[in-house]
Amino acid sequence: MKRVLGVCYYPEHWEEDRWAIDAAQMVEAGLKWVRIGEFAWSRLEPGPGDLHLDWLARAIDVLGEAGLQVIIGTPTATPPRWMLDKHPDMLAVEAEGNARGFGSRRHYCFSHEGYKNECRRITEILAQHFGKNPHVKAWQTDNEYGCHETTVSYSAAATRAFQDWCAQTYQSTDALNRAWGNIFWSMEYDSFDQIALPNLTVTEPNPAHILAFRRFSSDQVVRFNRVQADILRQHTDAPLIHNYMGRVTDFDHYAVGADLDIASWDSYPIGFLSDRLEATEDHKARYLRQGDPDMQAFHHDLYRAVGKGRWWVMEQQPGPVNWAPYNPAPLPGMARLWAWEAFAHGAEAVLYFRWRQAPFAQEQMHAGLLRPDAEPAPALAEACQVASELAKWPEVGTANSRAALIFDYASCWAWEAQPQGADFDMFRLAFETYRAARKLGLSLDIVAPDTDLSGYDMVLAPGLLETPQTLENFAGTALLGPRTGSKTTDLSIPLPMGPNIKGLDCTVARVESLPPSARIELENGGAFLHWFEELDGNAETTLTTKSGAAAMMRADKLHYMAGWPDAETYVDILEMITEKAEIETTRLPDGLRRRDTDTHRFWFNYAPNPITFENLTIQPADIKIEKL
Ligand code: GAL
Repeated sequence: MKRVLGVCYYPEHWEEDRWAIDAAQMVEAGLKWVRIGEFAWSRLEPGPGDLHLDWLARAIDVLGEAGLQVIIGTPTATPPRWMLDKHPDMLAVEAEGNARGFGSRRHYCFSHEGYKNECRRITEILAQHFGKNPHVKAWQTDNEYGCHETTVSYSAAATRAFQDWCAQTYQSTDALNRAWGNIFWSMEYDSFDQIALPNLTVTEPNPAHILAFRRFSSDQVVRFNRVQADILRQHTDAPLIHNYMGRVTDFDHYAVGADLDIASWDSYPIGFLSDRLEATEDHKARYLRQGDPDMQAFHHDLYRAVGKGRWWVMEQQPGPVNWAPYNPAPLPGMARLWAWEAFAHGAEAVLYFRWRQAPFAQEQMHAGLLRPDAEPAPALAEACQVASELAKWPEVGTANSRAALIFDYASCWAWEAQPQGADFDMFRLAFETYRAARKLGLSLDIVAPDTDLSGYDMVLAPGLLETPQTLENFAGTALLGPRTGSKTTDLSIPLPMGPNIKGLDCTVARVESLPPSARIELENGGAFLHWFEELDGNAETTLTTKSGAAAMMRADKLHYMAGWPDAETYVDILEMITEKAEIETTRLPDGLRRRDTDTHRFWFNYAPNPITFENLTIQPADIKIEKL
């Protein structure tokens, strides 16, 4: 498959006579896609019904005639100021009860029907005008659902919609009371309109109530997106895309992705390292200018699943960003490495964010491919290099992994509703599992819990609320736990107690969570952190703690792990499991990562120093590609 580059562009930020110059330079740089329009509502409709689409039509013509393919983003992440006069109650409301006001972006509540209708209207207008435009080759819905913590809203509209959702889901208050255990503390309801949102309670709300509200909030995002997708489909055959984010798990991305054609995500490796990852200060210092060596790959693999195989990077960091606590510049070469890493994981396109740095407003300190004065910024040369390499180098094959990691959004919400240990975080557990596998050179797929697993030799399933049915008849090697299968859909303890894995006589009798200073030492070295479970049952014990408790049990190829291993121990454990699965592994030097497709093996050096490994020497921020 031909893989290509592109860029995000804001024609409304510049004088019209710049557009043709910009377009020509983009083409000269080898860029193929340009995304426009996603924040331009106040220029498309400066007052209610006062439409000005002519400038967008001209921008599309200029870009298209220069040879670029255009993606239009619907502008619904930034409703103009007049919208609030029309719908004063459309704002999202924080848990503390305050409305989240105008003056930045994403100032809307997913449950507000009036605003949803406005989105339907503007999407329809754009789709009617541009749906058949020959230069418009893809559409993006909204921008980064959930960004700035906007999935959950405690508005009056959300309350009404949640009551309705509860009625649909549980059918009777009796059923809801039973499912949530509302006899506890006399929390029983006798009509759905008594059910408030789980905020402003005296002490903690019922975790079942929180989890239901989180499921509802996720469904609202899916519904909101579907409104736009349904309209766009009536007017265009071009693929529909949304741009998801790094470590945002507040809604079920698989469910949104089911209504779209391609998943994409916005990759800011250096920003994420400083503000979105648990890591030691040493790790953050070592990867300061490269980003974490596994964070991008994790999301590439996750969004490949969300996009049912088709995915892009819609926004790629080009230089310092503006939004992290500190914003270092990338090591020369990283803007190229990140793009190639995405291609190695199957990206069809990588678009840099943004073409030219804006001299004004919130993101004036955010780098682009051009400086504010339109001179080239350092990433432009790297983008040109990638574009010319793409033209010269052989086509990259597609992903081909024998092992999968199951990642589930509801489990993220469940453990947020009921962490039990302050630092038990589902994303972190899944990510550390992924990292351990990558240190062994493994190429993983990330999959939803309902994915058919029969094509895999090995499956990793840590921390899942419920044991997926797909694992029931899985013939390969599996590693489950900690916490997998420990709850019902409504977040109570199942009876019989978990993990309830057919064929594995093992029950979690008791759990304990541990503060960061505590370790459960294992007999052969290494330790569990954060979490430990006491296992009962007659399955074979394959690992024990120093004090003689079972740390892992197994029956044939099914393994259950009783704790959260530290980084090195996790690598050791996975090495043992992969041996069982007859999957070859190689321990990689710190910072070196590899990725196999069905045609090529890619090597990426994330370390700040050169690395020599298996007769290859790779410079910092450099890559190597071998034919398989
Ligand atoms: C993304 C967003 C862009 C821009 C960028 C800055 O989250 O989609 O509009 O704000 O971050 O890094």
